[in-house]
Amino acid sequence: MTELAGGGGAVGDGLRIRAFEVADTERVVALWRSTGLVVPWNDPYRDIERKLAVQPELFLVGESAGTVVATAMVGYDGHRGWVNYLAVDADRRGERLGALLMTEAERLLTERGCPKLNLQVRSTNEGVIEFYRRLGYQVDEAVSLGKRLIPDGPARS
Ligand SMILES: CC(C)(COP(=O)(O)OP(=O)(O)OC[C@H]1O[C@@H](n2cnc3c(N)ncnc32)[C@H](O)[C@@H]1OP(=O)(O)O)[C@@H](O)C(=O)NCCC(=O)NCCS
Repeated sequence: MTELAGGGGAVGDGLRIRAFEVADTERVVALWRSTGLVVPWNDPYRDIERKLAVQPELFLVGESAGTVVATAMVGYDGHRGWVNYLAVDADRRGERLGALLMTEAERLLTERGCPKLNLQVRSTNEGVIEFYRRLGYQVDEAVSLGKRLIPDGPARS
């Protein structure tokens, strides 16, 4: 667990990054819905259940004044690190909370010996690429392929 509390009103002041807890579920799903991260083919509740079974300590939430305002679902597959569900509450954008979550994700992955972090950006969300570029990410010369193994159907409400 990391406490990030800059002094003197520093940006990100008071953000506490910790592992997700089951009690965070509804708030986290609401945050994902409000930030446009929930799509019909992914059920956020199932995604949370699965993550709690695999490296749950890498499922991060950022808490400010007792409220979850940011998330990052991090994983390491033994070759590459991944970040999914990076989200910052719309009312808290531009305070470097997203950058702080990514820094913590990178720290945790590096600590585990992970040599490279990959992430995917939906083609409908390309505006966010500039955010990642500012953090040192480059667009890889690669095409992303996927195959659905377990259909989730419409997200539960
Ligand atoms: C993307 C997101 C996490 C950024 O969070 P944030 O806390 O507002 O970002 P930060 O304040 O940490 O920004 C870090 C840098 O990126 C820049 N930045 C942030 N969002 C940007 C955007 N949409 N376009 C261009 N630059 C952006 C900031 O200006 C800042 O630049 P600087 O280092 O030069 O000062 C947030 O906008 C979000 O939750 N979006 C909706 C969900 C989403 O799309 N997640 C990513 C899925 S791949």
